[in-house]
Amino acid sequence: MQVVETISEMRNLRPQLTEPVGFVPTMGYFHEGHLSLVRQAKKENPSVVVSIFVNPTQFGPSEDFRDYPRDLRRDLELLQNVDIAFVPSEEEMYPSGFNSWIDVERITQRLEGASRPGHFRGVTTICAKLFNIIQPTRAYFGQKDVQQAVVIKKMVSDLNMNLEIIVVPTVRESDGLAMSSRNIYLDAEERQAAIVLFKALSLARHLWQSGEKDTDKIRHQMTSLIQKEPLARIDYVSIADANTLEELNVIDRPALASLAVTIGKTRLIDNIILKGGK
Ligand code: PAJ
Repeated sequence: MQVVETISEMRNLRPQLTEPVGFVPTMGYFHEGHLSLVRQAKKENPSVVVSIFVNPTQFGPSEDFRDYPRDLRRDLELLQNVDIAFVPSEEEMYPSGFNSWIDVERITQRLEGASRPGHFRGVTTICAKLFNIIQPTRAYFGQKDVQQAVVIKKMVSDLNMNLEIIVVPTVRESDGLAMSSRNIYLDAEERQAAIVLFKALSLARHLWQSGEKDTDKIRHQMTSLIQKEPLARIDYVSIADANTLEELNVIDRPALASLAVTIGKTRLIDNIILKGGK
C-alpha cells in the first residue's frame, strides 16, 4: 500500500491502477463499519483507494472537529490489500483563498441538515474534490449515514459525475448499537443508554410488521420509549420516504425510520429501512 499525501502524487499514481477503481472516503479512526466498506470495495474492484481526512468544513462551529478522534498509524495498519491510502493535509485540500462550494438544495434542509446547518455543503464539497482527484469507478458509503448517501447520489446525478455510488449495510455491535467513531465518547453508563436508538428503531419495525401504517403512532411510541431513558435527549425521530426523505403520514412506500439522539454530550444517529413484504 502506498501512503499518498499530495494531490499531485495521487494524480501521478492514478494511471497505474487497474480499472475499475473502488474508493472509500473516510475521516479515519476505523471500526468494523469502515472496514466493511473497504472489504466490499475490494470484492468489487481490483484496485482500491481509501482516503483519511477529517474534513473541517463539515463541522459546525460548536461541533467536535478539534476533538474528533484520530489515530492515523493504527488506521494505516488496519488497511490491508488496499492500493493507496490518500491522507492529505488540511492545507492541501483547502489552501488559503479556497472559495468554491457544492450545495445540494432541498434534501439537505431536512433531518441532519436541519440540525447541522452547512454540514452537507462541507460533505458534498469534499467528496466532489476527492472524486475529481481520485477519479474512481465506484465510491462506497455506509447506510449508517443514510442522508449523506442520498445527498451524494443526488450530487453525482445532478452534476453528471462519472462514478457509481454504492451503499453498504450498517455494521452494529452485538447489542445493536451502530458502530461509530463517536461511540468512544460514551462512558460505561452512556454506552448502556445508547442502545435506546436501536431499541426505538426495532420497535418501529415491529409496529410496521404488525400492520401499523400510521407514522404519527409509530413516532409517538418511539419517542415514549426514548424518553424513558434519562440520559437520552431526542433531536428528531422521523419516518420518511426512503428516496426523497420527505416525512410520511402513512407508510405506503419504502420508508426510512431514522433518529438523532444525544446521550450525555454525544449526538448519535441511526436508521433502518422499512420495505418489502412487511
Ligand atoms: P466517516 O464518519 O469516517 O465515515 C466514513 C464512511 O463509513 C461513511 O460512508 C459512513 O457512512 C460509513 N460508516 C460509518 N459507520 C458505519 C457503520 N456502522 N456501518 C457501515 N458504514 C459505516 O462519513 C464520513 O466519514 C464523512 O462525512 C466523509 C464521507 C468521509 C466526508 O468527509
